[in-house]
Amino acid sequence: MPIIAPSLLAADFLHLGAACTMLNESEAEWFHLDVMDGSFVPNISYGLPIIEQIKKTTSKVLDVHLMIVHPEKYIADFKKAGADVLTVHYEACPHLHSTLQLIKAQGMKAGVAINPHTSVELLKDVIQDIDVVCVMSVNPGFGGQKFIEHTYEKVSALKNMITLANASTLIEIDGGVTEHNAAKLVKAGADVLVAGTTVFKAADPKAMIVTLKHC
Ligand code: DX5
Ligand code: ZN
Repeated sequence: MPIIAPSLLAADFLHLGAACTMLNESEAEWFHLDVMDGSFVPNISYGLPIIEQIKKTTSKVLDVHLMIVHPEKYIADFKKAGADVLTVHYEACPHLHSTLQLIKAQGMKAGVAINPHTSVELLKDVIQDIDVVCVMSVNPGFGGQKFIEHTYEKVSALKNMITLANASTLIEIDGGVTEHNAAKLVKAGADVLVAGTTVFKAADPKAMIVTLKHC
């Protein structure tokens, strides 16, 4: 069964507390938190103070997805705010290996996200150092976009790479995940499913989390 990581980007920001309570009562194991800077991606979301407040409401895993340039500058700040998994973008890190070590030195799990155009092959030399690979199945920046079908092939290739390397890296899928593609993604090798719109716009978000988990 996959880990479900609802993305709070799709929650009602005026009632974030209620969204956190709902997730705490649900079968979701992770909270997915999208940080956007208007530079790496063409959108601005929320940052450290919001994450700090969310941390106070939950003992579940805070999975922070940094869509920002120079993520290495803020590693200690996100640790302090409560991140458990800190994910940086491959495309934003000229010294990825070093950035991963800095994240782990702070006691967090290290994640690497790859954009739809980035080949999984580029992670081969660092796969042992990555706790979570976040495969973007949309172009990052916005919730509610259409799932890119080529993702399945990337997940299978990544799964092979991880198995061959005897690594324990988790594969996370982010963008356009629904109850219709979840099972196929898990079959291809996905361990963690991020879902924003599918969970928060559902008539019954908790029931949707159950559906995704038992896909
Ligand atoms: C997109 C973000 C996603 C987003 C997913 O840039 O990284 O986490 O919240 O939203 P949905 O599930 O609506 O595609
Ligand atoms: Zn995300």
